[in-house]
Amino acid sequence: MRAYIASTGFHVPPNRVTNFDLVTRYGIDTTNEWIVQRTGIEARHFSADGEGTADIALPAARDAIARAGLEAGDIDLIVFATLSPEHAFPGSGCVLQALLGLPGVPAMDVRNQCSGFLYALASAKGFVESGMAKNVLVVGGEKHSAALDLTTAGRAVACLFGDGAGAVVVRGTKDSEPNKDRGIHWMNLGADGRYADALTQKVWDNRKSPFIWKDPETGKNVVKPEMMWCQMDGKLVFKNAVEKMILSVVGMCMENKIEPSDLDLVVCHQANMRINEYVRDQLGLPPEKVPNNIQKYGNTTAATIPILLAELERDGRLKSGMKVALVGFGSGFTWGSAYIIW
Ligand code: UT7
Repeated sequence: MRAYIASTGFHVPPNRVTNFDLVTRYGIDTTNEWIVQRTGIEARHFSADGEGTADIALPAARDAIARAGLEAGDIDLIVFATLSPEHAFPGSGCVLQALLGLPGVPAMDVRNQCSGFLYALASAKGFVESGMAKNVLVVGGEKHSAALDLTTAGRAVACLFGDGAGAVVVRGTKDSEPNKDRGIHWMNLGADGRYADALTQKVWDNRKSPFIWKDPETGKNVVKPEMMWCQMDGKLVFKNAVEKMILSVVGMCMENKIEPSDLDLVVCHQANMRINEYVRDQLGLPPEKVPNNIQKYGNTTAATIPILLAELERDGRLKSGMKVALVGFGSGFTWGSAYIIW
């Protein structure tokens, strides 16, 4: 038996915020040209006040469950990848489980940022192939908008991220399966914690007591701006992302005895279109094999890969039997890749 992705689903909140809106609505000193030229991003979606990560994920989860021909009650495990849970604890997996009305069903969070979906998919593959679960709902969902410094001081990071969620149902192949090769054939995960500070949103530091800094003059606990907002060494992240993503796909091809040109699609994490163009060029692949949707959604972190898979499936670019690579890189540093026959 081999685990496979039986269906995809996605949702982005309706409020679309263009690069021009960042200038006119938020008063940020930036330009559409700067953002498009450096990142390829033209717009992102921001959710409403009062709407949390699991709320954004709920329509995506329902979409994936319905497209798998299942009812919510058929799901026997939820794996939720996010760096933006509603609270420090419990995780968004539990919140989503309650929204789906599935008391008793195990739910867990994966905290691996931009590689979160791939780490969650690997977990689901393990659960299914070991026989511990039958129908795993794997979700990548983020609400970034509440944690962005939407002022000129925060422009280098704020222009990159958007809200959204993608979901897939992972099941095991049956002996009667007509598409014998179907499934997640191979996965590889990696991390290098020496770079933990290169892309981080700290908020608190529990090496100190109290874990949120106390102003000695006022006696009040205060989250300083450098702790509140995401801090990123953009150039270092860019360089490592390119290197690790190329090596991941090349390693995948070697392990599976295929050439990059044998791949029908390479579905990259959507952090920066320039990163993905570089990866594409180094692999010698044409643009149609390395699709992007960052133009529309920005970087939705754990949600980028499942959202893109869902869109590709909807518009007929992702079809049964295709050889597909998934690859991502992000904070931690963490990275991962998957070789799938769809
Ligand atoms: O999923 C992983 C998440 N992150 C990534 O993958 C990000 C990888 N890194 C990147 O994509 C790029 O580093 C960025 C697009 C984030 C930034 O590009 P950069 O070429 O590294 O720009 P920079 O941060 O070095 O900034 C260059 C200039 C600075 O001005 P000065 O100091 O040269 O006068 C910035 O203040 O651009 C300025 N700048 C902006 N200007 C207009 C930074 N952000 C903006 C902005 N609009 N939004």
